[in-house]
Amino acid sequence: MATLLANGKYVKNGTEMTVHVLVEDGRIEKIWESSEPPHTEKNTETIDLKGKLISAGFIDMHVHLRDPGFEAKEDIVTGTRAAARGGFTTVACMPNSRPVTDNPETVTYIREKADKQGSARVLPMGAITVRELGKELTDMQALKEAGVVALSDDGVGVQEGRMMMDAMAEATKLGLPVVAHCEDNSLARGGAIHQGSYAEKHGIRGIPNEAESVHIARDILLAEATGAHYHVCHISTEQSVWMVREAKARGINVTAEVCPHHLLLTDEDIPAPDADGRVNTDFKMNPPLRSERDRQALLEGLKDGTIDIIVTDHAPHTREEKDQDIYRAPFGIVGLETAFPLLYTHLVKTGMFTLEEILYRMTRKPAELFGLPWGELKEGAPADITVIDLETEKQVDREKFLSKGKNTPFHGWKLKGWPVMTMLNGQIVWQEENFIKERG
Ligand code: DOR
Ligand code: ZN
Ligand code: ZN
Repeated sequence: MATLLANGKYVKNGTEMTVHVLVEDGRIEKIWESSEPPHTEKNTETIDLKGKLISAGFIDMHVHLRDPGFEAKEDIVTGTRAAARGGFTTVACMPNSRPVTDNPETVTYIREKADKQGSARVLPMGAITVRELGKELTDMQALKEAGVVALSDDGVGVQEGRMMMDAMAEATKLGLPVVAHCEDNSLARGGAIHQGSYAEKHGIRGIPNEAESVHIARDILLAEATGAHYHVCHISTEQSVWMVREAKARGINVTAEVCPHHLLLTDEDIPAPDADGRVNTDFKMNPPLRSERDRQALLEGLKDGTIDIIVTDHAPHTREEKDQDIYRAPFGIVGLETAFPLLYTHLVKTGMFTLEEILYRMTRKPAELFGLPWGELKEGAPADITVIDLETEKQVDREKFLSKGKNTPFHGWKLKGWPVMTMLNGQIVWQEENFIKERG
């Protein structure tokens, strides 16, 4: 049976239009750009989108699904449900699971579980070093054969330059990108939040900008020397942005990603400590929320293409873990279920970015960077589709998250741009309640 998604709103080259998308056998069979939907055959179900936005499914190249090993935080079932609800059809998961994804068996476990039980496509990333300890390279060839999409020690930086250089050389031979969590431990040591005005005012140990930027400077030189595709995770500082910009201008194969929270919040947005001196740990993530100056640099970097893609760094933790003091609580916030509404409300509705610019950096661009066959709404492509209600304002309610993680700094925010239906390979994997009622 075929499905016609009728009367979707679509934006292309700055122009808004009405489109009708016919989905058959998991693929986009045909797209009509016309005011009226086409006549369809008897065995076609029509879903009237009534002017809601239709987009290729979002691709998030940076999430933590916590499976295997940390299923109290999240698992592949709940994490991919959260993804589908957020409009994401493809997510790449970081290897800091237990065991670490440093071996082919764990890659296979993730792929098979996601295939059988997942609501989104999962692309595992393999570790750069064994157990992410920075001491010994993984068997990258075996990881590649098992199906990893890239290599990363996310969660920690590769501390030794020699190790990173060898990793890049090997990854380049295999044609795999090196996806780097950039953090020099000797500079970050002991810090819980950004070393800036909030840390100073409240006497909290900070993480300086240089903890990130020093690694990026080093790695850009190593990428030039080895010819690697070097991808910078969750870029957060002004200095990092200008170094990536400079490296790109020199023709070095460096790309970068940014998270919604770094685009929208600064350290000054962390609520003041409570009467007992406790800081809200839902504002603690790594890299930390930086200064307004850094935030402006990230927005500029995203605007001019220095920063290629938007990712969530979805990092669920349990309430118990987060309910510790600011030093003990783990770094990380969830992001899959709020990413698009945050960006739409605060970057698109405010006129800073066009809808098309934001969608591009969540769909086609990540696909291009990592050589993936998804991310475009076009005839013949797999039917990974997201439908979004741009009108209805709703409050973020972490208790309603499908993710096990409730650790968000955005609880209570009023946002527009909520996904209402997500289709993966032509199958509806998530629908919002009111949308089901509306379409009858
Ligand atoms: O905030 C973060 N959380 N940053 C990281 O680099 C790791 C992640 C996690 O695994 O919780
Ligand atoms: Zn990281
Ligand atoms: Zn991460």
